[in-house]
Amino acid sequence: MKKELITLKINGRTLELASEPNKLLLDVLRQDLGLTGSKRGCDDSSCGACTVQLDGVPVLSCTLLAASCQEREIATVEGIAEHGSLAAIQKAYGDWGGAQCGYCTPGFMMTVDHLLTENPNPSEDDIRHALSGNLCRCTGYMQMFQAIKAAIEAERKGRASEAQTAGAR
Ligand code: FES
Ligand code: FES
Repeated sequence: MKKELITLKINGRTLELASEPNKLLLDVLRQDLGLTGSKRGCDDSSCGACTVQLDGVPVLSCTLLAASCQEREIATVEGIAEHGSLAAIQKAYGDWGGAQCGYCTPGFMMTVDHLLTENPNPSEDDIRHALSGNLCRCTGYMQMFQAIKAAIEAERKGRASEAQTAGAR
């Protein structure tokens, strides 16, 4: 199929590339842009390993045409580090052994990142509900759960410390 020029906004950068109009976002990310964090784990939209965010909302990049994402903000796991430092959820995964083989980890992180943005203080039920579309074949759910709770606590402390600093000015 003939390639066409498409423009994608990914992790805050605008990129122009030639791509087949029927190419999936996951394949463009991995094959054309070298953003291999997002994974293909199934063929039927059921595992969540390919999760990215589109305009801040988690979506399955294995079922989206890249060309349909033009003019939208795409975020991948490569973009969630903050100013060169690990995001709270990335650090907590390391501390709590949230990743075993790690194949599902990028997808989980994009879902958790959205959850914590929408709801900085989620209940355990909120966390379970948010993660229901992501599967871990290593079944390391308990470690992930601990890591997510640690990230929530770290972010809560960060906000409290920022508020204290602002109050002292
Ligand atoms: S690769 Fe499994 S849902 Fe996209
Ligand atoms: S850590 Fe291996 S699939 Fe989740």
